[in-house]
Amino acid sequence: MKNNQILDVNNDVKWIGVLDRDIVTFDVVMETEYGTTYNSYFINADKKAVIDTTKEKFWDVYRDKLKQVVNPEEIEYIILNHTEPDHSGNVKNLLNLAPEATVVGSKNALRYLGDLIDVDFNSMIVKDGDTLDLGNKTLQFIGAANLHWPDTIFTYLQEDKLLFTCDAFGCHYADERMFDDKVGDFSDAFDYYFDVILKPYSRFMLKAIEKIRPLEIDSILPGHGPLLMNDWKKWVDKSEEYSREALKYPQKNFVFIPYVSAYHKTGDLAEKIAEGIRQAGDIEVEVSDIEMMAIGDMDERITRANAIIIGSPTINQNILLPIYKLFAVINPLRDKNKLAGAFGSYGWSGEASKMITSALEQLKLKVLDDGVFVKFSPDSKEQQKALDYGRKFGEELLKK
Ligand code: FEO
Repeated sequence: MKNNQILDVNNDVKWIGVLDRDIVTFDVVMETEYGTTYNSYFINADKKAVIDTTKEKFWDVYRDKLKQVVNPEEIEYIILNHTEPDHSGNVKNLLNLAPEATVVGSKNALRYLGDLIDVDFNSMIVKDGDTLDLGNKTLQFIGAANLHWPDTIFTYLQEDKLLFTCDAFGCHYADERMFDDKVGDFSDAFDYYFDVILKPYSRFMLKAIEKIRPLEIDSILPGHGPLLMNDWKKWVDKSEEYSREALKYPQKNFVFIPYVSAYHKTGDLAEKIAEGIRQAGDIEVEVSDIEMMAIGDMDERITRANAIIIGSPTINQNILLPIYKLFAVINPLRDKNKLAGAFGSYGWSGEASKMITSALEQLKLKVLDDGVFVKFSPDSKEQQKALDYGRKFGEELLKK
């Protein structure tokens, strides 16, 4: 692996990032079948600057690359577009070599960095529109909060027409050729990265794209994956299209009823609740046994639905694994205030009731009543109760 290579973005700007081919999952949740890269850049201006660093475990290779392009003591600025440790992981090590360097970032970024590293450092807070004079070059900062942390900025190198965007327009894709027109097809990786990391922040993506459109840009240099040297517009256009698509959701009056059921008692309740909801009015309902459902399919439905009712039996005083997986894809930033409910059949205790409703409340959904929980098979009264609950749920939804 050519993990020691340095690439010329142009005469004065070098890619000094690292490839991580061995990574299996990113942030625990994201499969990384193509590996990833942590892109860091060196700007050889009168005042020398580094943009973002790498994950800490790559310090040795990163330090060696840095030393090939600059005496680290000469670095005056470390620009931190975003503080997640895959980019800030070597700021502390870099400061050991360049103790006089000033770390530049948003107010949030510098606060987070203070919590991440236990050393004092010179810092400079920048806001949207601020510039930093590097002598013969100028950095301009663009606020891009919530892409995907509140700390995010983009950095624009005016004279070179280069835009550094960290996670935005990036993807987990490791190919040592690195330039978008030299590497293999990374569309899958780009789409998957957008879905998992950026889609919940589509509103902010559109704002950021609006801000960068007027800039004269030759290349976009993200924090992961290929450098968009050849056709950055293609990837920005895709991001805009995906963001607009995502913002069409949630769909009005669509209820998703996911459940698991060992003997179809909980499944029977699901059908009755769905029947009640349909009686309430023009509401689309999807009832799904999610035992074998892929996480991505759960996510698609949770995104699309504007109401969710979750069903689980109680087994060994607990709910079941697919329900925990479902909770993992509920995103309070996206799903906050969606109407929600719970149901299930149980044998001798009924812990599922409180477990589901309290998890939904903690995830910031609006839970309607205590839901419908019955011992073993729902009898005719309990079936009626499920029907009534569904109807009430539907009526509440139509009022929203
Ligand atoms: Fe690549 Fe949000 O860090």
